[in-house]
Amino acid sequence: MRAAALPRVLVAAELRGLLPEEPFPGHEVVWVRAQEPTPRGDFVAMVSILQRRIGEEELAGLPNLRVLALCAVGYDSVDLEAAARRGIPVTNTPGVLTESTADLAWALILAVARRLKEGQEMIARGEWTGWGPTQLLGMELAGSTLGIVGAGRIGRAVGRRAVGFGMRIVYTDAEPQPAFEEATGAGRLDLSHLLAESDVVTVHVPSAPETRGLFDRARFSLMKPGALFVNTSRGDVVEEAALLEALEDGTLGGAGLDVFSREPHVPPELVAHPRVVCIPHLGSATTQTRRAMAELAVGNARAVLEGRGPITPVGA
Ligand code: GLV
Repeated sequence: MRAAALPRVLVAAELRGLLPEEPFPGHEVVWVRAQEPTPRGDFVAMVSILQRRIGEEELAGLPNLRVLALCAVGYDSVDLEAAARRGIPVTNTPGVLTESTADLAWALILAVARRLKEGQEMIARGEWTGWGPTQLLGMELAGSTLGIVGAGRIGRAVGRRAVGFGMRIVYTDAEPQPAFEEATGAGRLDLSHLLAESDVVTVHVPSAPETRGLFDRARFSLMKPGALFVNTSRGDVVEEAALLEALEDGTLGGAGLDVFSREPHVPPELVAHPRVVCIPHLGSATTQTRRAMAELAVGNARAVLEGRGPITPVGA
């Protein structure tokens, strides 16, 4: 008699190095790369990364799917309504990437405030002739105002770090954050006032219909002349043409960008701009965090398969 086939699980092949040899005991794992189309078939669970878009069509090809576990905190890669119509829980990886992403936002704030790219390029071009009292003067962060757009876990972690830099902190959020205010002295403002008062604006909102294109020409025009703009959330929250315009006309003094609206495409004008630091979506890219994300994603899928219910369902 032939042994019964094991239930099959689809797992993003990019996660392989972060996971144990057999992440789903008692199951057959089929590894799939983001460049390959989403396989169709009798898979009972899927662990996916944000490059793969999963909508009605992909879900229709996976009629036995019991859980879709994302290895990401953002879930804009999935059509949640389509998943809900099919009764498929979607999970993400909140919490485990908060600190690494906040660190990365700070890496960008510091790099842009202190003009590191221009300094490095000056050396690379052989143009540095020695210390100069007025050379590449940047923004003094102590005493400046940091505007946090979206005070969720990551936004608040960025704010906590700002206390150590001696910054005044303001934030926008749908809900007041009293514990955060108490810990940091932060004040809640509406977006227009935050933009008018901030020397550095850092964005931590998810991609959603109400945030897409949030930073357009009108919003940039509200910012202080020479203010800095940092985005580690999602690229489509920003109209990149408007961002470039704001950099060109001096509204913005610089930008630090970890995310782009059509990744992996990065507008060449942004890459070439001396006051813009572009990095390739590295927010959560530390070994510890990426391991924790992969483990949580697998943990979510296993929890559902074992009848325990998801650990971190989206929207909970
Ligand atoms: C990365 O961008 C994530 O959503 O985890």
